[in-house]
Parts: sequence; structure tokens; C-alpha cells
Amino acid sequence: MGKDKFKRFRENETFGCLYQPEFEEVFGKDYKMKGNWHKDHFGNGLPIVLELGCGRGEYTVAMAKRFKEKNFIGVDIKGARMWRGAKTATEESIANAAFVRTRIEFIESVFDRDEVSEIWITFPDPQIKRYKKRLTSTIFLDKYRSFLKDGGIVHLKTDSAFLHNYTLALVLQNNLELIEANNDIYGTDRADDLLSIRTRYESIFLGQGIKITYLSFRLKREVQLTEPEWDSEAYDR
Ligand SMILES: C[S@@+](CC[C@H](N)C(=O)[O-])C[C@H]1O[C@@H](n2cnc3c(N)ncnc32)[C@H](O)[C@@H]1O
Repeated sequence: MGKDKFKRFRENETFGCLYQPEFEEVFGKDYKMKGNWHKDHFGNGLPIVLELGCGRGEYTVAMAKRFKEKNFIGVDIKGARMWRGAKTATEESIANAAFVRTRIEFIESVFDRDEVSEIWITFPDPQIKRYKKRLTSTIFLDKYRSFLKDGGIVHLKTDSAFLHNYTLALVLQNNLELIEANNDIYGTDRADDLLSIRTRYESIFLGQGIKITYLSFRLKREVQLTEPEWDSEAYDR
């Protein structure tokens, strides 16, 4: 492991905004913060917005600075990446930004029913061959429904035409309320203040001339979700 990584891991231990549950604290068990984020971390009752697979936490930090009337929590498994967001939040005293280092597979152990109002998923691996690992598959949406408010919004920003179209098909097939689907936000002048926040991966894809897409929809709680039939062979990204 590089020296820098070690240094970041050590510094991560000092950040009050970064939670790093051990495997035993989330595997088949409720984490101590579940149901307590408002009371024990933020000290207010403002809506909580998650960024899943946040990497360096660009969205979490930028949104927290812009929207003081909400709380933001970035979630990722890579501590050396999240160090960036946690350090900025600490240095700039951004009280409405926090981070959790955990596998998203365990997220039901970290948040309680109705604790979260919105979810952003920013440039996830599309997992073309493995729908069970895909962050917008019914498997993950079912997990999110255990803590997202009924009708809460899910935002997906991605470079992957496959993931955008697959998620759109899932939304339509399950009669979820589609708020917006845009398959080229920069080409259609849709990249406003919020959508033009650039993550590290987004910058890389933009540099390669790849179109950036955006999708948002409301996730209902009490419906049985079904997977769309989707031809992964038709896509290379
Ligand atoms: C392609 S990167 C995108 C990072 C960031 N959102 C960006 O746009 O720069 C995907 C991120 O998701 C995280 N990730 C993928 N699967 C995950 C999982 N099951 N649990 C937690 N984090 C995951 C990875 O560690 C990685 O940081």
C-alpha cells in the first residue's frame, strides 16, 4: 500500500464527519447510527440526502455548500477516495456533510425507515454482466426502499448508455414516476448549477467525449419491483 494511502487512512480516523463501521457492526446487525443520524450527528431534523458510490464526495460537498436546508451523506467503500471529501468538509466546517465508509450491500443496517429523503448515484460501475451488483437493480432498489421516504427521489448521473437505458426501462416497466430522463445533459443545455457539479469520473469521461446522462424518478415503497428484460450485448458501456 502506498504511503499516501496510509496517511489518508490515519487522517480518516480523526474526522468527526466520517463513520467507518467494522464489518461486524453492519453484517446482519443494525449500526449504532441507524435511526440516529438527525439526533446524534446533524443535530437537526432537516432532510437527509445520500450520495452512493460517492468516490471523493464531490456531489456531497458541493450540494452541502449550496443547500444548507438539507443534510448530505456520501457512502463508498474506498477510504482513500472519501478522505478528500471528509477533509474538505472538516477544513471548511461544512456541518451538513458526512461520510460513511461501508459496502452499499449493508446499507439497510446504516439507515432506518423514512430516515432518507433522496438518493444520488453518481457514475457507478454499470455492471453490464452482473445485474445483482448494479446499483439501480431491483435488488438495490429494494434495499433503498427500507429507508427512503415513500416516493423519495432517486437521481442517476452516468456516462453509461447501458445503465441509463436499463434504469429507464425498469422505471417504466414498474410504473414508477419518471421525473426526468436526459441522454446528453451538456449537449442539451441541461447542465444547470446542480447537474454541472463535476465528479472525478465525470471529468475523465467528458475528456473522452462521452455523453453524460441524467435520470430521476420517485421510488414507491409498496409495489413489487420486477427486473426489465435487457440486452446487455447491445452495449459496450
Ligand atoms: C466509478 S467510481 C465513481 C466515483 C464518483 N461517484 C465519481 O463520479 O467520481 C464508483 C465508486 O463506487 C464505489 N462502489 C462501487 N460499488 C460499491 C459498493 N458495493 N459499496 C460501496 N461503494 C461502492 C467505488 O468504490 C467507487 O468509488
